[in-house]
Amino acid sequence: MADVCVITGGGSGMGLAAAGYMPKSKMIVIAGRTVAKLEKAAEKLRAEGFEVYTKACDTSDRESVKVLAEYAASLGNVRNVINAAGLSPSMADPEKLLRVNALGTVYVNSEFRKVMGSGSVILDISSNSAYALPSVIIPKRTYKLAETDEEKFLKKLLKLCRLPKDKYKQSGLAYALSKNFTVRYAGKCAFEYGGEGIRVLSLSPGLISTDMGNTEAEEGAQMLRYGAEKRMGTPEELGYAIATAADERNGYLAGVDILCDGGCTFGKRYT
Ligand SMILES: NC(=O)c1ccc[n+]([C@@H]2O[C@H](COP(=O)([O-])OP(=O)(O)OC[C@H]3O[C@@H](n4cnc5c(N)ncnc54)[C@H](OP(=O)(O)O)[C@@H]3O)[C@@H](O)[C@H]2O)c1
Repeated sequence: MADVCVITGGGSGMGLAAAGYMPKSKMIVIAGRTVAKLEKAAEKLRAEGFEVYTKACDTSDRESVKVLAEYAASLGNVRNVINAAGLSPSMADPEKLLRVNALGTVYVNSEFRKVMGSGSVILDISSNSAYALPSVIIPKRTYKLAETDEEKFLKKLLKLCRLPKDKYKQSGLAYALSKNFTVRYAGKCAFEYGGEGIRVLSLSPGLISTDMGNTEAEEGAQMLRYGAEKRMGTPEELGYAIATAADERNGYLAGVDILCDGGCTFGKRYT
């Protein structure tokens, strides 16, 4: 049976760039909400010699993720899951951001766990915004509700997001919380799934020149001056980092977040 690599949010940006660095021996499944976008991306990858399948999926809907996981498993051994689906502050309100970025991660990890076996990997894409929150406001106890009481999880986080008056700042806080949650949840899954041979980790990009990153470029630019690189990252640079971190040969890379932001977070904190 062939190995299958599933990329949520694979129709564009970093997810699509990561697909291009996967070994051509793997079947690639790209998933997202917009079928036309997926088909265009699949065409590009097929022209490069990849065997590609597309599947419409909304990662904020558990049933939709379950169908995607079962579809991927029907094609072959699901070896790599790259969860790159996500929305940014200017794209959605706080509830939508939390549903897609935070609960979507819970659905992807837990539904794919059911169809994955030893020697496989789940990589969740977070953001360096995960590191922007002061530690006193990180609601660790609320995070635990994501698996037991989703509505309470959302209610408590949304209450926190209403603290800033400005609407963009409310979405910015929801985004940072959703990505901070992603890092912690991926870490938790690494320890829970490790015994089954499923390696789990997260990767946190800085400001990257995808469609999404370009939308946030004005707000995000303040961080760039702290970086060692002093520029936005490119989708190709991140695609390479993601694909290699998700490669089976990187088998000891687990239970960790890879901060790939050109040094911005480190620079802001320590220089
Ligand atoms: N670019 C940056 O500066 C930056 C920085 C830090 C972190 N990130 C994170 O990196 C990841 C990839 O983003 P990108 O920059 O590559 O942007 P992108 O090109 O907009 O990719 C995001 C993809 O996610 C898909 N998506 C959005 N909501 C979805 C949902 N509910 N279900 C399934 N798919 C969904 C989108 O397709 P559809 O709309 O068709 O569903 C899109 O193809 C995201 O998680 C983002 O938060 C980006």
